[in-house]
Amino acid sequence: MSNYFQHKIVAITGATSGIGRALAESLLKNGAKVAVCGRNQAALDSMKEALKSSDLLTFQADVSAEDDCRQFIESTVQTFGGLDILINNAGISMRALFQDVDLAVLRKSMDINFWGTVYCCKFALPHLMKSHGSIAGISSIAGYKGLPCRTGYSSSKFAMQGFLESLRIELLHKNVNVLWISPGFVASNIRNTALNASGEAQKESPLQEKNLMTADVCALRILNAIEQRKRTLIMSSQGKLTVWINKFFPGFADRQVYKHFANEPDSPLK
Ligand SMILES: NC(=O)c1ccc[n+]([C@@H]2O[C@H](COP(=O)([O-])OP(=O)(O)OC[C@H]3O[C@@H](n4cnc5c(N)ncnc54)[C@H](OP(=O)(O)O)[C@@H]3O)[C@@H](O)[C@H]2O)c1
Repeated sequence: MSNYFQHKIVAITGATSGIGRALAESLLKNGAKVAVCGRNQAALDSMKEALKSSDLLTFQADVSAEDDCRQFIESTVQTFGGLDILINNAGISMRALFQDVDLAVLRKSMDINFWGTVYCCKFALPHLMKSHGSIAGISSIAGYKGLPCRTGYSSSKFAMQGFLESLRIELLHKNVNVLWISPGFVASNIRNTALNASGEAQKESPLQEKNLMTADVCALRILNAIEQRKRTLIMSSQGKLTVWINKFFPGFADRQVYKHFANEPDSPLK
């Protein structure tokens, strides 16, 4: 990696595990000053302890709370003296048929994945306009194609992408880059914490996590896209193919997606 991130001030939401944590570690190695948030104070403390860096600020915040987002961004700016990059990474998933799901699951998905992004962008924007910085959103293929049993997750990622695209165009001549990145399947906690029909963490993954892309590799590709000030990045060939097929053969894409999700172990579609 070049020295692009050296001395850059970066705020990352949801960095107590998975992709967010890998992003924080990689940025610190590359000389950035990094502020991270998450809800789990114990995980934030152990991250601080493990990484032992004066360039790391850990801050307890629930991104679904507007005031937590305000305080997270304010303390990042106070601690490091500005903000160059905001990475909206915090997210939760779900797995349940819409006919069975408690509507609170959809609200929670929107509150974290969509509203968390909106709040952080709102408070970060004045600082990013000064630094001519970047806003990144960690989205998903679920933001391009509605996925069965993921109504709340897909809605929130579609909404996030629509919001970021509007914002990108507003900022077109202000030299603030806005991009979203759609990883493929990445080994992390996201499937264990995914909410079931009654809103509890399902505490298992239907995938073989060890066979998936690592969070470290995913983080490097995200940072590369931010450095290149890209508009979007779809990371996997399966993701690229899904988006392409969906554009030209949407009915076929529906059937393929159904088949894929019906074949997952314990699929609610069966
Ligand atoms: N892994 C994949 O296969 C995959 C694929 C496509 C997209 N993504 C996206 O990548 C992003 C990161 O997910 P991951 O895979 O790294 O999952 P993960 O390991 O479960 O990490 C999610 C992070 O978000 C934080 N978080 C969740 N709710 C939060 C809230 N209300 N406020 C603040 N932080 C919150 C969690 O920390 P706390 O629990 O401490 O709050 C955790 O640090 C998500 O947006 C996800 O949708 C993942």
